[in-house]
Amino acid sequence: MRTVDLIRKKRDGDELTTQEIEFLVQNYTRGVIPDYQMAAFLMAVYYSNMSENEVTSLTLAMLNSGQRLDLSDLDGAKVAKHSTGGVGDKTSLILGPIAAAAGVVVPKITGRGLGYTGGTLDKLESIPGFRTNLSIDEFRAVLKQHNLCFAGASSQIAPADKKMYALRDSTASVESIPLIAASIMSKKLAEGIDGLVLDVKVGSGAFMKKRTEARKLAQLMVAIGRKMSKRVQAVLTDMDQPLGYAVGNALEIMEVSQTLQNQGPADLTQLSVELAARMIHLANRSQALEAAREQAAQILASGEAFNKFQQVIAAQGGNPEVLNQFELLPNATGAREILSPRAGYVTRINAEDIGLAAGLLGASRDTMERQIDPAVGIILERKVGDRVPAGGRLCTLYHTDETHVDEAAQLVEDAFHISATAPEPRELVLEVIQ
Ligand code: URA
Repeated sequence: MRTVDLIRKKRDGDELTTQEIEFLVQNYTRGVIPDYQMAAFLMAVYYSNMSENEVTSLTLAMLNSGQRLDLSDLDGAKVAKHSTGGVGDKTSLILGPIAAAAGVVVPKITGRGLGYTGGTLDKLESIPGFRTNLSIDEFRAVLKQHNLCFAGASSQIAPADKKMYALRDSTASVESIPLIAASIMSKKLAEGIDGLVLDVKVGSGAFMKKRTEARKLAQLMVAIGRKMSKRVQAVLTDMDQPLGYAVGNALEIMEVSQTLQNQGPADLTQLSVELAARMIHLANRSQALEAAREQAAQILASGEAFNKFQQVIAAQGGNPEVLNQFELLPNATGAREILSPRAGYVTRINAEDIGLAAGLLGASRDTMERQIDPAVGIILERKVGDRVPAGGRLCTLYHTDETHVDEAAQLVEDAFHISATAPEPRELVLEVIQ
């Protein structure tokens, strides 16, 4: 087999066999195939697409490039959740404790934020002492005791994806539905799960700006899961405005705490309960989805999920008191209020621009090497549909360094659209694919 022939075959739109895909992935991971040939192959996939069989073979080859976690000795169904990434998306920190308190085993191997979306690891690491670089034994021990553990992906999980993702990032081939599906599913399937709930975000603050693209990605990931005999479902959800009010790491931990104490934003609470209910249902802890929704809501209302999160924080070396005393979290030193130029209704909040503005303040990174500032971010005061008087507060920027505050403020001012008429209400959960 010659790599150049496989690149040509894909370039011309023909279907590759499982053996051909394995050859490419194995030899690239071992360093036998050079970056320039893999980059050409990935660009050929970008233009020529892949069949469902090809994507499944690609996923398996990437999965088999590294270790798979074996959690079969832990009692109960293991169900994970993955979000394709959004602005202000902190649902994992709410639904994880809810599902774990319901008896679902929730292994959460998670990433850092890149670009304008935040990452669960960065949010957790704003909690003083919280450790995410756990050994496999430590991960298992926390999972066994609490049904929930959060850890960063080790370099042994799907190493082919790490190499290919970095190459795609520098050769403009990230935005390919088959490549995204194989990348996500290879990492999730390595977690030793029985089931998976995928939150596929759609809108200005999401990877997938259009619903048709998000649907295709969701359908493909569900199909891959089914071929691997896993229970997978995908929920398409709105990311046309940030989720909740807080964007930025420590600020989001504060909002998680409020939500776990039943004082959180309605959209964040609704989505967290919905996704947790789907995990409970997939884990067979509840026969009907409606009963699972009631169970999830009850666990949240009773404070069980709050207690669970505190226990997991303590088990991972963090100070659980941060959820009661926000002054224990990193705090910003300065604030800038953004006021509405006129009276009206908020009709749109460009989530990508809010994410970029938070990034300018230091809340996220544009390259993996950049340090983030856990204290900074944005608190929205108004969401889509809210009325605002002229001069009323739209949001507040929290910072520790003045350098980019003017630029961030300009982005945020432009992100808010104010109009005389109220917008049509939007659904948060757009579609379910199973
Ligand atoms: N997230 C991933 O893990 N992989 C992609 O290719 C895109 C988003």
